[in-house]
Amino acid sequence: MVHRFTLTTPLYYVNDKPHIGSVYTTLAADAIARWHRLQGDQVCLITGCDEHGLKIQRSAIAAGVPTRDYVDRMAGHFAALWQRIGISHDRFVRTSTPQHQRLVHGFYERVRNNGHIRLGQQRGWYCVACEEFKDGDAGDSETPRCAIHDRPLEWRDEENLFFCLSHFQESIARLVARESFIGPASRRREVQRFVEAGLRDFSISRVDLPWGIPVPHQPGHTFYVWFDALLGYITALPGSDGPQDLTTALASGWPAQLHLIGKDILRFHAVYWPAMLLAAELPLPEQVFGHGFLTREGRKMGKTLGNTLDPEALFAKVGVEPVRWYLLRDIQFGEDGDIQQKRFLDLVNNDLANTIGNLVNRTVSMSRRWFADAVPPQGGQDAPPHPLAATAAAATAQVGQCFAQQDLQGAAMATLALAETINGYLSEQAPWRAIKDSSRKEAVGAVLYGVLEATRLVGVCLQPLVPEFSNRLLAQLGCAPLDSRHGLSPGAWEQLVGWGGLPHRQPLPEASPLLTRLELDGDL
Ligand code: MSP
Repeated sequence: MVHRFTLTTPLYYVNDKPHIGSVYTTLAADAIARWHRLQGDQVCLITGCDEHGLKIQRSAIAAGVPTRDYVDRMAGHFAALWQRIGISHDRFVRTSTPQHQRLVHGFYERVRNNGHIRLGQQRGWYCVACEEFKDGDAGDSETPRCAIHDRPLEWRDEENLFFCLSHFQESIARLVARESFIGPASRRREVQRFVEAGLRDFSISRVDLPWGIPVPHQPGHTFYVWFDALLGYITALPGSDGPQDLTTALASGWPAQLHLIGKDILRFHAVYWPAMLLAAELPLPEQVFGHGFLTREGRKMGKTLGNTLDPEALFAKVGVEPVRWYLLRDIQFGEDGDIQQKRFLDLVNNDLANTIGNLVNRTVSMSRRWFADAVPPQGGQDAPPHPLAATAAAATAQVGQCFAQQDLQGAAMATLALAETINGYLSEQAPWRAIKDSSRKEAVGAVLYGVLEATRLVGVCLQPLVPEFSNRLLAQLGCAPLDSRHGLSPGAWEQLVGWGGLPHRQPLPEASPLLTRLELDGDL
């Protein structure tokens, strides 16, 4: 049976070009999507842009450009960057399209007909950067500031439409108590506490905000950006020419199995969004996973601090694979992570260039020299199982368990540990000494076969994490590249990771470095 796996990145605000935070979520989602495709799942990786709201309208005004042109240009930056770094998304959705507007209207009608919309007066302090009301006392003489952005909040007192979140108190409390719904486990408690404090209705319309989707039957009101944005996940789903209505979308990949997001927007995804879906009687996503925040050399990144890391410049300087490896391997997915230049260089050079790159290089050179430029024979018919076979099987199984739990670092470390074991085995066997005794040539062949075969499995396991590097490794063994963008058929993975997949006598191309050591003058 084919499993469907729909996963999403957040839909990124287009007030600015992509930043390293958006790159991080997207790379992680890409790795998970590639993993599932290799398992034969029918994957739909959704990404895109969230294009409404006051923040974006103001950015366009500040840039002196009509909002439509501004969002088109910014969305273009996202699409171009994902293409440039090989993100394997299946859908790229934009929330300022007519198609999305139709879907939002259809959804809103359903929720309203079900009795979960009311009019009310919205009084409160608003953070435009968060696009969210914050708790604060209206009687304060001083203007309160946003704790995240350290910017003054803005006072609002207007008639808005409200979504009756309070109607869903019990069902949401049950949902967030479910172990599988919020990942990582450490974040579940914080959402539970928020729900236990009592869910309050929230306003879903704005007055005087022309850059938004008009609310039907409510002249002068546009939808609150989060109400419209979350629905982008459904608009994104494949339909004939995109879903014309909710029904088409639902037939083609809803509910999502996984929403990958940063921890700052967990509440929207784990509380507001499921309540909205319940209100429309639509199925709920299976899991919301909130990853941590990235800092740089121990400091929060920001324009005012002047320490942002421009993704385009970064990729141009060091290439895509090193960035993927570093971020996915060094940061425990779910926890905060600190980007450190020295560690970046050390890990990329040690892991990819030395531990894995040199292993491949040495083994291919030896095999070519002593076995006519090809893969040596496995050993006699009744030879015992190769000592590396069991280790490799355990490593590939471990990689699978890690991916099943979004443990990308665990998957990287299990793969790296396999490469280290192979290196240890190679030093211990020292085929370069054994080959001097011609009676031991068959034994040397068996040693090298095992090393090449286990190394092939390293390459296979690396595929979702660093796809190009993985394919370079496989090419060095004479193997065909893996296509984790389009995927494998169900059951093919099990075959791929079975011991003995590397054919005896397969020609080995001349060894060349898989990755040249990175040196940097200046900063990342
Ligand atoms: N538009 C909303 C999402 C709507 S989803 C229907 C949004 N966009 S965003 O562009 O501001 O943020 C996108 C993602 O980037 C969020 O998941 C956020 O957590 C993440 N990051 C922003 N800064 C980050 C770091 N410094 N580190 C890691 N991720 C961070 O929110």
